[in-house]
Amino acid sequence: MKQIKIKGGNILSGDINISGAKNSAVALIPASLLSDEEVRIDNIPNISDIDALNEILEYLGASVKRDGSLMIIDSHNIKNKKIPESISKKLRASYYFMSALLGKYKRVEMYFPGGCSIGTRPIDQTLKTFRALGATVIEDGNKYTITADKLVGTTIQLDMPSVGATVNTLLVAVRAEGETILKNAAKEPEIVSVATFLNQMGAKIVGAGTSEIRIEGVDYLGSCFTEVIPDRIEAGTYLIAGALIGKDLTIRNMIPEHISSLTSKLKEMGCKLKIGKDYITISKSDNLTPVKIKTLGYPGFPTDLQQPITTLLTQVNGTSILEETIYENRFQNVPYLNQMGSNIEIKERTIKIKGPTKLVGATVEATDLRAGACLVLAGLVAEGETTVTEIKHVLRGYENIIEKLQNVGAKIELEEI
Ligand code: EPU
Repeated sequence: MKQIKIKGGNILSGDINISGAKNSAVALIPASLLSDEEVRIDNIPNISDIDALNEILEYLGASVKRDGSLMIIDSHNIKNKKIPESISKKLRASYYFMSALLGKYKRVEMYFPGGCSIGTRPIDQTLKTFRALGATVIEDGNKYTITADKLVGTTIQLDMPSVGATVNTLLVAVRAEGETILKNAAKEPEIVSVATFLNQMGAKIVGAGTSEIRIEGVDYLGSCFTEVIPDRIEAGTYLIAGALIGKDLTIRNMIPEHISSLTSKLKEMGCKLKIGKDYITISKSDNLTPVKIKTLGYPGFPTDLQQPITTLLTQVNGTSILEETIYENRFQNVPYLNQMGSNIEIKERTIKIKGPTKLVGATVEATDLRAGACLVLAGLVAEGETTVTEIKHVLRGYENIIEKLQNVGAKIELEEI
């Protein structure tokens, strides 16, 4: 078992380079199966979620070469086999294989995907899309057999702008006959990256990044090269670290516009930021003021930064209110923060954070990826030593988090126990 030990109170100063976005890379890799030629994806982050997708690619018989952050995938010889539950449940993004295989072979057999336990996370919108495009879905417990004689484009309206259902629609509709119009689509930058990737292979997708996407089906998808966009959630997490305990901490290789919902909240709180074209410099400021935050789909405040920013809100003067509208179980970090000294009350989907409170080191558990990030941030600012257990969740999504933080002055070590 791996855990992290942090000695709190050390100022973070210097540069942190942002890696490729987990939630873009985990969609591009399954999308590559739709190509009948070799595809090359650079800036792939070295995180365990990517290893899990690699395992699925290799299980299906794809040839995968990895050279640093470059991944070369040739899947023209793959076999459309049932993906075992033991690998599909390792991560949420495994179900992008459901749609890529359905799009390519008109048949797929696989199990309910995994992912952080932050809510029920149903897949009804994805299944609704498959059915609308002409597929038959047979559900047997958590196993799905999905077949189609032919896939035909149509107009689909999502009940909510789901990232997963939007990506899955793209991956099937690119190989359907005729035009699909997806309404109430998610607008996250990761959606744009998947559409751009597919277009480079020869797809005809317009409107990605808006709530209406039009996809004209094509018969063949070929080779292409793409680079994964910078991880806006990783960038946001380190910016919050800078607001907590930074002195001229510069977050580089990022797209500031992708986290403008965070930077505008930080400014509202009184943080001083220098925003460049592809970097932001931040230092800790005194006398931060409380804010109200409500999580929303892009370009709203991302749910994935809700837990990390909670740590910062424990340090401001006054009561902040944070409403989580996306997931019903994304406050598992709160009891641990309270154990470290914060004063946070949970009421249904809202938390009330009374600050400022002194945080003191403790042994706390990373119950999920972003809860873990929140607790690492708490450890950086806490007095004394913090141990964050179950760190595997954090390593699923943050490339080289230990080294990146050590390089800017944090006293943080990975321990194997
Ligand atoms: N929803 C449904 N039915 C569906 C799909 C979604 O009810 O068929 C609900 C969900 O339960 C949730 C909301 O709609 O309440 C939004 O879910 P969405 O489908 O947008 O999320 P996702 O695709 O499962 C991705 C990211 C998450 C991120 C969300 C929201 C990946 C692999 N995961 O999840 O990332 O929180 O979008 O931005 O891209 C993380 O990185 O820590 C993480 C959880």
